[in-house]
Amino acid sequence: MEIKRIGVAGFGLMGGGIAQVAAQAGYQVNVLEASDVFIEKGYAALDANLAKSVHKGKMSQADADGLRNRVIGTTSVKDLSGCDVVIEAIIENLDIKRKLFAELDALCPPHTLFASNTSSLQIIEIATATKRADRFVGMHFFNPVPVMKLVEVISTIQSSPEAARIATELATAMGKTAIQAKDRAGFVVNLLLVPYLLDAIRAFESGLATREDIDTGMVLGCGHPMGPLTLLDMIGLDTIYSITGIMFDEFKDPKYAAPPLLKQMVKAGFYGRKSGKGFYDYR
Ligand code: 3HC
Repeated sequence: MEIKRIGVAGFGLMGGGIAQVAAQAGYQVNVLEASDVFIEKGYAALDANLAKSVHKGKMSQADADGLRNRVIGTTSVKDLSGCDVVIEAIIENLDIKRKLFAELDALCPPHTLFASNTSSLQIIEIATATKRADRFVGMHFFNPVPVMKLVEVISTIQSSPEAARIATELATAMGKTAIQAKDRAGFVVNLLLVPYLLDAIRAFESGLATREDIDTGMVLGCGHPMGPLTLLDMIGLDTIYSITGIMFDEFKDPKYAAPPLLKQMVKAGFYGRKSGKGFYDYR
């Protein structure tokens, strides 16, 4: 199957990054958002990323302009009807995702492959909103998408081997390394990462050490690029909170239960970098 046009649902942190790497790989990209305001925000983040790359000499102005012109924002689902692959990166809400894919299923030709970037929901729960569960997989990217090299390709019990192969080849064409995972909440990376991040919150909450020392411990002691509390602020505490809810529901294991401090911070609107305050203050 030749892929020319890719649809991305969501122009936020993840969707914007996916749109960028898809356009960078030469594909035409249609990005769907709920309103013009979100489209403008998505373009602003993309423009800032491209300006940084040009400034650093990593990309020519002409290449940046070409990439930017290949990304077309829209608020109409119909504009994704000509896409060969649609990757969804919207809010982690099963009902909203199912509704979107049911609409896309009615609009897109039979060959179109559907992929969800969900970080914790089971793919099969979303895929069954369509009549093409055999052409439905997970493609889980990592934040920041333009930098992180991994994509988890998730096959459900109904995904065809061809669907997983197309997703794997697409990830490779986008400059990523794909690993294959089964359709279980958290897949490979979040299954291991989320308990570690929650333990870091518990350590801070219990007064074991300062946030700076917890982070320095993991950066200098284990060679991590950033400490767990800094990473939580980057991922978004609201995102992690919703992931823990889904994983705890799935496994009923206390290691996935949200520590009270995480819940309090989310309720207070301390989402991390994106809101200006999380474990650290970015204002
Ligand atoms: N968008 C695009 N590029 C970015 C970026 C962003 N948000 N943040 C950093 N970069 C680029 C920089 O421009 C720089 O590029 P260059 O090498 O071409 O100059 C490069 O990344 C390195 O950035 P910095 O020098 O500013 O800073 P660091 O060396 O600390 O790297 C980092 C930043 C890449 C974010 C690094 O700290 C890192 O790898 N952190 C861990 C990230 C991680 O674990 N991500 C996974 C999160 S889990 C997830 O996403 C799953 C989800 O389901 C929750």
